[in-house]
Amino acid sequence: MKRTKINTLLHQGQVNQIVNVKGWVRTFRSNRFIALNDGSTINNLQAVVDFENFDETLLKRINTGACVSVTGTLVESQGKGQSMEVIVETLEIIGDADAEKYPLQPKKHSLEFLREIAHLRVRTNTFSAIYRVRHAMIFAVHNFFNEKGFFNVHTPIITGSDAEGAGEMFRVTTLDLKNTPLTEEEEINFKEDFFEKETNLTVSGQLEGETAALALSEIYTFGPTFRAENSNTTRHLAEFWMVEPEMAFYDLNDNMDLAESFLKYLVNYALEHCKDDLNFLNNRYEEEQKAKPQNERTEMGLVEHLEFVKNNNFERVSYTEAIDILKGSKPNKKKKFKYLIEEWGADLQSEHERFLVEKHFKKPVILYNYPKNIKAFYMRNNEDDKTVAAMDVLFPGIGEIIGGSQREERLEVLKSRIIEMGIEESEMNWYLDTRRFGSAPHSGFGLGFERMIQFITGMGNIRDVIPFPRTPGNAAY
Ligand code: 4AD
Ligand code: MG
Repeated sequence: MKRTKINTLLHQGQVNQIVNVKGWVRTFRSNRFIALNDGSTINNLQAVVDFENFDETLLKRINTGACVSVTGTLVESQGKGQSMEVIVETLEIIGDADAEKYPLQPKKHSLEFLREIAHLRVRTNTFSAIYRVRHAMIFAVHNFFNEKGFFNVHTPIITGSDAEGAGEMFRVTTLDLKNTPLTEEEEINFKEDFFEKETNLTVSGQLEGETAALALSEIYTFGPTFRAENSNTTRHLAEFWMVEPEMAFYDLNDNMDLAESFLKYLVNYALEHCKDDLNFLNNRYEEEQKAKPQNERTEMGLVEHLEFVKNNNFERVSYTEAIDILKGSKPNKKKKFKYLIEEWGADLQSEHERFLVEKHFKKPVILYNYPKNIKAFYMRNNEDDKTVAAMDVLFPGIGEIIGGSQREERLEVLKSRIIEMGIEESEMNWYLDTRRFGSAPHSGFGLGFERMIQFITGMGNIRDVIPFPRTPGNAAY
């Protein structure tokens, strides 16, 4: 008999029909009620076994975690909490799970414990919901850009350039580390390496994306990026996914408009397509908030947060205005910030970003026109020669979710920035060609995909929104 997914049954199932369902046992209660889940929805299907008609040894194998196939009649449920259930006629164990050894017991496990068994945590309600929401968001990203006529471009994962110029890269090499070939100057001879040069995992697809935007007008990349920064925080991964649109003929304002409408589209997509999962995550979030001390709780629930972002304009504030606000703020005056804001030019830490968003403006903020000294070489120099046309989108509970800019399209200005920053000009010749031939104003940004998933799901730690997180000291699986 053909298997039907639980989600399909719960939405389109016809009562009094014989159905087959396969899935994993969540609980087996009173030797009678199986809560079965196949991952197609957060909702379990109740399968009712009349234990008198079943072999005792078979019943003993219906353990939490076991994979089973049940065939029976779909009926309207007698009990509370579900609309339909299956009266089981035949039951087959597809894969046993030893109740003594299965790590996921039918009780609440801590997120920390579940991180240790990332290969099994997808079988919990929380993580299966996150996986499904993540899928919906991937789909929504492609939808958004496709509807606008942007082209998806695959940029390289192994690269010979440092897109951010920050030097936080993972080396890619096939050299024998115990016996590295040396040059006459006793330095590692990368000419003998696989690519005959130094290569790394990309930190961003932007530079290659720019080459495509200056031919196809509007493009986006959506790929894995890698950063060897030793940041052990709830917002940093060593391997994360980034969405990077790049648009010819967009100035900084156009860029901010696109970023705002993109984020609202994603939030709205989740609200419309992930209702059951968001309800579940909303309850989880509320319980988590209740467990916190009063002053650390957020005022809004998860779904309320999403509705709020969807319905309100983001506040656009220049870096200079932000510094004035921060300088005069209570936590700065009372020395509550870890990094006190003393003068213009200071780099903003996440405590400052979150103050602006959560305490001062109480809504998402787009900060723009940052000091050029704290930003990357490719950002467009402003008239004042102190700031660049950069923009960061800051979100409640997250801090920076998007970083972007208008790009420096003027060859000579860009060249002098490259030299100023000590970047090897010969390595950037291909990039400079885009400015030598038919250069044009253009802009783009990068959305940290996991930070967006954190916002949508209300998960506090970025390690819980990617299936297999990579962080300093952690690359299991
Ligand atoms: O601000 P970033 O470094 O910008 C760029 O890489 C640009 N090349 C993007 C562009 O203009 N095309 O990174 C962009 C976003 C950040 O705002 C943040 O959301 C996320 O990527 N991000 C990280 N997410 C998780 N772990 C990390 N270590 C991250 N570093 C940045
Ligand atoms: Mg940034």
